[in-house]
Amino acid sequence: MNILGINSFFEHPSIAIVSNGQLLFAIEEERHTGIKGGKRYTPYSNVYIPFKSIYSGLEYLGMTAYDIDMIGYSYNKWLHCLDSIRSLTGQKKTPFIDEISAFWGLLNSKRALTGRYDLLCSMREHLPIGSLSSKPFISFNHHLCHAASAFYCSGFEESLILVVDGSGEDSSTQLYLGDNNKIISLKKFNIPNSLGYLYSFITKFLGFNAYMDEYKVMGLLAYGKAKYEQKFREFIVYDDKGNYKLLKQNFFKSKRDTWISS
Ligand SMILES: [Fe+2]
Repeated sequence: MNILGINSFFEHPSIAIVSNGQLLFAIEEERHTGIKGGKRYTPYSNVYIPFKSIYSGLEYLGMTAYDIDMIGYSYNKWLHCLDSIRSLTGQKKTPFIDEISAFWGLLNSKRALTGRYDLLCSMREHLPIGSLSSKPFISFNHHLCHAASAFYCSGFEESLILVVDGSGEDSSTQLYLGDNNKIISLKKFNIPNSLGYLYSFITKFLGFNAYMDEYKVMGLLAYGKAKYEQKFREFIVYDDKGNYKLLKQNFFKSKRDTWISS
């Protein structure tokens, strides 16, 4: 069975082609578009399909889209829909209308896969118009996909798997147990308790681009001293059972001057 995996809801769209449990091909769309992060801003109501990556995978493997048996998408529209309610209660920063637009886009994923307006004539040899939209399309929990990509490539038969992300549909950090061909969720922390968001906030605070330049902050870490350790302790509280809570009001209201003077 040939499975095409697509990741494109957030930045850095990418694809993978797996055949009978073997990873055959994987690529990020930015290798083709030359755009850092892979894609330009896409309205929430449109699902971005990384056609260039899909085409290059099919071409590399000597396949056509008709050889694909199933498509897996790394974001679950129903979980997203359920979680959208939290933007009405202020627990999520995104406006409710944007959440619903995103849900609408996800509902139309299969239509987007037709590629009527996006597919170039030069792609039709391996990727004819409409050839993907007739395939079974399954959307998975975003963090389960992160966990699977780490666990199934690790070679371990059993392992704890820790996903620390900005956000998935509802969670930000999730702990799993990988046991042969099963992945079981053990614990999760929901948005807004997101260590990824904190990392992005710090990235922006330093004058870089959030969701893009976090690796620069990671690189700078090697040159840093623990001067602001106390400041960070005001942002996160944690207990000895591994639970943490972000005091978001403390970091979103944090001003650069108060850091410099401290
Ligand atoms: Fe993610």
